[in-house]
Amino acid sequence: MVDVILGLQWGDEGKGKIVDFFAPNYDIIARFQGGPNAGHTLYVGGKKVVLHQVPSGVFHEKTVNLIGNGVVLDPITLKNECNTVKSFGIDLKKSLFVSDRAHLILPTHRALDKAAEISKGDHKIGSTLKGISPAYMDKTGRNGLRVGDLLDKNFTSSYIKLRLKHQRLLDTFSFNEDISVWEDEFFEAVEFLKQLNIVNGEYFINNGISAGKKVLAEGAQGTMLDIDFGTFPFVTSSNTTSAGVCSGLGVAPQKIRDVIGITKAYCTRVGSGPFPTELDNETGEQLRKIGSEFGATTGRPRRCGWMDLVSLKFACMINGVTKIVMTKADVLDSFQELQMCTAYEVNGNEVKEIPFQLAKLNVTPIYKSFMGWHKDTTKILSEEKLPESMQFYVEFINKYLGVNVKYISNGPEREQLIILK
Ligand code: GDP
Ligand code: IMO
Ligand code: MG
Repeated sequence: MVDVILGLQWGDEGKGKIVDFFAPNYDIIARFQGGPNAGHTLYVGGKKVVLHQVPSGVFHEKTVNLIGNGVVLDPITLKNECNTVKSFGIDLKKSLFVSDRAHLILPTHRALDKAAEISKGDHKIGSTLKGISPAYMDKTGRNGLRVGDLLDKNFTSSYIKLRLKHQRLLDTFSFNEDISVWEDEFFEAVEFLKQLNIVNGEYFINNGISAGKKVLAEGAQGTMLDIDFGTFPFVTSSNTTSAGVCSGLGVAPQKIRDVIGITKAYCTRVGSGPFPTELDNETGEQLRKIGSEFGATTGRPRRCGWMDLVSLKFACMINGVTKIVMTKADVLDSFQELQMCTAYEVNGNEVKEIPFQLAKLNVTPIYKSFMGWHKDTTKILSEEKLPESMQFYVEFINKYLGVNVKYISNGPEREQLIILK
């Protein structure tokens, strides 16, 4: 049995915190896509930790963690992260398993990411510059190197061959930064990676399922950044949606039980691309300030706006969401009035579906207003204590989406989560 936790917006919905909360109910936590572009924040004993490459279950001694075949893996980030986790007394050499089919991010992938972004000028995607797109391009282009290749005695010559190919591409971008430091680090980190548990991920997980183990698949990024269903081309390079679980771990669709979708009580986006409910004003600034909306991976200020029910309904449809977790509800505590987008106006027509090219249309959100609750909700522990206007806000979401909010997160700490009936 596999449950899935994934983002319903443009990432940073609070997936890390929620995975960490639910982890004790599972035996295996598995990342199925993305790479170190992810930044998942958790609090461990009051201390903030941001994870990029390893699953957010790593702080629970009884769970094991898998980096699945759908992930692109940067050995340097992985090594650093394993050391961070070790400082909390957890040795990932025991509890972390890595699929031999996961593709490697090479130093030249990072260089290519940077060169490609620079060449796009004003049209840049706003990539995290972690080498994600070039690594996935090498995967689909059938050139990439995989974790299992590290165990082959010819790895260095395969690496040099691919590096030369990348160098020719970098030359066309006139990119001439010295990447030899990254390369030294890379080969050091590769030795570290080789000491970890490199497994055949699909057997690892399916044997686990057959033995009755419970699996939690942890999504990175969010639905609107999905390579197929997101706001293309302003997306990431993987399937961030529930379909990605099957291809990114090797599990069959009928093994998936719950798809738990995470949404903020408002909306944010980092990087370029369309964002219909963006508030480029004082209110947006207030959301950013109260919500500490700065990227966990790059530190960039996140763009902020109201909740967009049109895109959330789309996300529920694509993912088959069965339960919703609404995070950062407490960030709205001080607002007098709240808004939710219930439709888009496009060329004078009211639209409730995500159009083909959101980026090229002039979209005006149609809003419904709600009264704020104007109350500190961060210490509330149970549903009955929630302000009436928050309950009304949630009921409206439930009705619009046809899927219920089952949990409200009212602060960044693990314990700040209210279960709804
Ligand atoms: P992820 O990428 O989906 O894991 O999310 P990030 O970690 O990038 O961003 C979420 C941010 O919100 C982190 O700083 C979390 O500590 C914080 N956070 C998560 N849930 C809550 C919440 O309910 N309230 C508040 N105030 N902060 C939260
Ligand atoms: P988590 O898992 C928010 C965004 C980037 C950029 C676009 C492409 O923490 O929610 P990429 O580096 O993938 O080529 O960047 O996607 N992006 C994210 N935004 N949260 C993330 O991950 C993201 N990962 C990538 O900002 O707009
Ligand atoms: Mg994040």
